[in-house]
Amino acid sequence: MCGIVGYIGNKNSTPILLEGLKKLEYRGYDSAGLAILSDGEISIVRRKGHLEELERAVKESNPEGWVGIGHTRWATHGRPSEMNAHPHIDCTGRIALVHNGIIENFFGLREELESRGHTFHSETDTEVLVHLIEENYRGDLAEAARQSLKRVEGSFAIVVICKDEPDVVVAARKDSPLVVGLGKGEYFVASDIPAILGHTRDVLILKDGEIAKVNQDGVKITTLGNQPVDREVFRVKWGAEAAEKGGYEDFMLKEIFEQPVAIRETLRGRIGADCRISLDEVALTEEEIKNLKKVFMVACGTSYHAGLMGKRIIEKWARLPVETDISSEFRYQDPLVDSDTLVIAITQSGETADTLAGIREAKRKGARVMAITNVVGSSVTREADGVFYTHAGPEIGVAATKTLVAQMAALYVLALYLARARETLSLEEMEKIVAEVLRLPELTEKVLSNHAEIEGCARKYHARSNFLFLGRGMGLPVALEGALKLKEISYIHAEGCPAGEMKHGPIALIDGDVPVVVVATRGQVHEKVTSNIQEVRARGATVITVANEGDEEIAKLADHVFCVPETSEFLSPILAVIPLQLFAYYVAKLRGCNVDQPRNLAKSVTVE
Ligand code: F6R
Repeated sequence: MCGIVGYIGNKNSTPILLEGLKKLEYRGYDSAGLAILSDGEISIVRRKGHLEELERAVKESNPEGWVGIGHTRWATHGRPSEMNAHPHIDCTGRIALVHNGIIENFFGLREELESRGHTFHSETDTEVLVHLIEENYRGDLAEAARQSLKRVEGSFAIVVICKDEPDVVVAARKDSPLVVGLGKGEYFVASDIPAILGHTRDVLILKDGEIAKVNQDGVKITTLGNQPVDREVFRVKWGAEAAEKGGYEDFMLKEIFEQPVAIRETLRGRIGADCRISLDEVALTEEEIKNLKKVFMVACGTSYHAGLMGKRIIEKWARLPVETDISSEFRYQDPLVDSDTLVIAITQSGETADTLAGIREAKRKGARVMAITNVVGSSVTREADGVFYTHAGPEIGVAATKTLVAQMAALYVLALYLARARETLSLEEMEKIVAEVLRLPELTEKVLSNHAEIEGCARKYHARSNFLFLGRGMGLPVALEGALKLKEISYIHAEGCPAGEMKHGPIALIDGDVPVVVVATRGQVHEKVTSNIQEVRARGATVITVANEGDEEIAKLADHVFCVPETSEFLSPILAVIPLQLFAYYVAKLRGCNVDQPRNLAKSVTVE
């Protein structure tokens, strides 16, 4: 995820663009840049690091002009560096472009463009766009952009300027957000409304597959197929802070609702309906995968729960023994790892001190180390042999939500990749699983649409002091995560426990005041979980379940059911966890807690 801005008007664009980027920094902050058009020339300033670095550089060179574009980056292709920072420029220095999204077919396009003599200056996927526009440019920037975008697969929001048309800014989008702000004799383009709210509340919201040509006379929107579009002006009624949250009350809620996109982006380009699994990031040859004797997953907190789920699917699909350990335990237990072991560090921030220490220990013992992380350029990416990036976008809420489902999606891809190399799944089995994995974003949307029911249930129980969460098999990591979410943001004591262990102790906690949340989606142990529900009911507990749509038996037994669509047992956790995130969120809100910044917690835990 990146933030992009553009300006055309009667003022100096530089401070306006910088102010817009500041508001978009939540979308990425590993490098930033501006391109300012003035006196028929484009001046580019780019810096690695936070926006302050760019501001400092701009103070020195002081570019001024009434047309410009800007970018704040969250790296996907190519490390954070000045060279990879946007705007990118074509071979002739006439055209400058900023981009948010991923160009999936960039590799082939780059080879093609290089063979025709284009020189590339960055490692990014984006740069192909500016060279394509250069090739298609015949005096009409919007038309050149339209032709070029036809060649592109993936997602994009772009803003582009050309020194031969100094009074035009062109913007286009597909699967990445973009709005055009309407001022008096001036126009603003941005990834998100907050970037322009200081100047105007009137915006045109571009839809997928649309292109806008903006000049001093107004905004002309057409489809990429060149059909005219008549877009109504949207008047923003909320304030800047609420707008940054996209109209949601809190970042956590926004991020919960972004989960379909987080899953889609993480799967994008890595798994195809034809069972093609692309995962060069693993940095292991097929032979090495065949020779692996063991996998160890190390992680903390929510990422550890992703690891518990990952253990079950890798063992099931790739038939490899997997141990999942909490990083702070792993590092001190003299772990039995060697060169035949793959150690996978799961860490959304890439900065968790215990996880980093864990992989150092594993490397010292000769293991191959791979990281699953959401943050490009984070510490873990420098220490691991291979890096698998999740594409959830920056997570601002301290409680992990969308990064968890992205980790789970990544683990599905990885498990299938290992299974294919080890030939442990038939083509038929593989096809079935892949088809289900590809449906996950859509199913996730369905789960989210039940939010009102979950809120209603939270209203009933938010004043309780203790909760018990139960699950078995694939449901256990979900139960543990449900309990963690509830305790960390609502400060209610919540315990997660394997349902089968209840009779060995935790059942003593049960009385009419302790709601028991049971993950009861269908699968191998469904009957056993049903018996566990009977056991807690017999002791007077209120039972809240996460169950599949149409499961009448569970519906009869439970006081409340959070329904999720039926899917294969091994994919069910990614759906089942979402109602529990929402439940924790609503309970915490009803108790007046600050869900985005719970007490005593931090987004990345860089101390032991
Ligand atoms: C819980 C939460 C934490 C993190 C843990 C690991 O909502 O966010 O439990 O999961 O601190 O963080 P990462 O994944 O950054 O290593």
